[in-house]
Amino acid sequence: MTYEKRSDGRKMDELRPIMAKVGIIPNADGSALFAAGKTIAIAAVYGPKLLHPAHMKKPDRGIIRCNYNMLPFSVSERARPGPSRRSKEIGMVSGNALASVVDLKRFPNAVIDVDIMILQADAGTRCAGINAAAMALAHAGVVMKEMISSVAIGKIDDKIVTDITKEEEDYHDGEGATDIPYTLTSNTKQITHLQLDGKIQVNRLKESYEAAKIACEKVLDCQKRALKGEDIDENKESKK
Ligand code: CDP
Repeated sequence: MTYEKRSDGRKMDELRPIMAKVGIIPNADGSALFAAGKTIAIAAVYGPKLLHPAHMKKPDRGIIRCNYNMLPFSVSERARPGPSRRSKEIGMVSGNALASVVDLKRFPNAVIDVDIMILQADAGTRCAGINAAAMALAHAGVVMKEMISSVAIGKIDDKIVTDITKEEEDYHDGEGATDIPYTLTSNTKQITHLQLDGKIQVNRLKESYEAAKIACEKVLDCQKRALKGEDIDENKESKK
């Protein structure tokens, strides 16, 4: 038995419907929402501002302090509030992905706080969070060398699939499922974040990168349109 049909009817290379909007948190310097299907993330940016505690200050550059959290009822089995090993790891990889495109030398001794909150989770939350955070940084007017866009590519049995859901991640027949979240830069298509959960042959990994490039281009288009003030909801657009 091979994986022939996706449970939600999408084509193998099809993203879930995207929602994207900036300016959702008026008190923040920048904010955004990014959703892919049932995965919904919001991000708020505060700063750049003088860093406290002082011992963390870097006299030659600023730092990005990124927090990732899930609302307790964002998942079917209530997520325990507060930091966990998983949330700390995702905060760190998200912050690193963002830091690679921000010219932090412009902000000595400063911090840019980036808070990512997952409102609802159906896999790919780190990708949705990074997409929202990159939009929120741009919305805050933080100068970025390039934009970044993120998507999780999967290998389910022998098929490379774009933007996998939790149900797909949990596929155990045949070769099972491999989850590969990618974050790519908009112009130079560099990888600023890549994780791999499962196993995959090198040639199939290259294939997954090609799928990520195409998918990130679509994500980028939504991010850019949202930053121009559009309220993007592909759920509504598909019903028109
Ligand atoms: O969300 P992402 O794919 O970036 O990270 P993951 O750790 O691979 O989690 C995959 C999915 O598992 C999440 O998106 C949630 O749908 C689910 N999950 C959960 O139900 N409860 C948790 N405490 C953590 C994750």
